[in-house]
Amino acid sequence: MTAPILVIGATGHVGREVVDQLKTAGHAMRIMTRDASRAADLGVGADVVVEGDLRESNSLGDAVSGVEKAYYATPDPEDNVVMLENFLAAGKPAGLRHVVRLSARSADITSSDDLARRHGLAEKALEESGVAWTHIRPSWFMQMMFEYAPGGRMALPGGEGRIGWIDTRDIAAMAVKALTEPGHEGKCYTISGPEALSYGDLARTMSDATGREFVYEDMTPETYREQQRAAGDEGWYIDLVLQLYANIRAGRYAYLTDEFEQVMGRPATSFAQFAKDCAADLVKQLD
Ligand SMILES: NC(=O)c1ccc[n+]([C@@H]2O[C@H](COP(=O)([O-])OP(=O)(O)OC[C@H]3O[C@@H](n4cnc5c(N)ncnc54)[C@H](OP(=O)(O)O)[C@@H]3O)[C@@H](O)[C@H]2O)c1
Repeated sequence: MTAPILVIGATGHVGREVVDQLKTAGHAMRIMTRDASRAADLGVGADVVVEGDLRESNSLGDAVSGVEKAYYATPDPEDNVVMLENFLAAGKPAGLRHVVRLSARSADITSSDDLARRHGLAEKALEESGVAWTHIRPSWFMQMMFEYAPGGRMALPGGEGRIGWIDTRDIAAMAVKALTEPGHEGKCYTISGPEALSYGDLARTMSDATGREFVYEDMTPETYREQQRAAGDEGWYIDLVLQLYANIRAGRYAYLTDEFEQVMGRPATSFAQFAKDCAADLVKQLD
């Protein structure tokens, strides 16, 4: 029997696409989540879903049993390396030999940015673990647009900064390729979409694709902090996101790469195509 591919972060933005694509291609998989009810809309049988928490080492046994390869994505709290090390410590004796981890373009152990440093440290821990690794360092996700524009108003502290937005379906396709074909061990892929676009550009493109009005309003970082605090976000997360927006405003996310096309043999999806494909999901925010 083929060893199942373990998906950690299956209920996340990219992970749910990884699950979908593994399922479509007919690969055996297992999904780990802290709460099985969160996997209810993934379209997989209950038999492939196991509960486990990366902060609870003794909860990981069922997830890693008989697994050789894993997709791994989590948020970026201060203990992200501990979570990864818990997983590796459970997985290695069980036969884990390759982890494809979702990182970020800015990963750098020397960075003063929390997100960049935490990804850098996690990449280093994975590289030193003795398990084969693939780092996927994507730009920002186009699918964040499903959450960014309640009522069609996209109010964010991004200024005029441009980003090489990438479609999570493309990120997942690269992860699935790395998990299911040889030759991706020890590789670090920094990937972007085909264009660097500002939030104003996004709003115009979403309006064109949906026939409904989307507008971008620049917001001060202070207003954003108050808004997110009132919405219940944790302080560490607000700090981390505001560091990202400072970088966006400064133009540090406007980079583009051709690594997606080199590896996948096709161009990355444009934002206009994403908006057309996902128009129904985009307008859900307006109703
Ligand atoms: N958003 C962007 O534009 C962007 C761009 C570049 C890179 N990234 C990186 O992408 C990563 C996040 O990926 P994503 O957006 O696909 O995921 P996500 O939507 O943030 O979801 C987080 C996932 O992590 C799982 N998780 C959280 N804590 C866990 C724990 N203690 N034990 C087990 N699982 C846990 C959750 O599973 P359950 O809730 O089901 O347990 C969930 O599936 C971050 O590292 C971020 O820096 C994001």
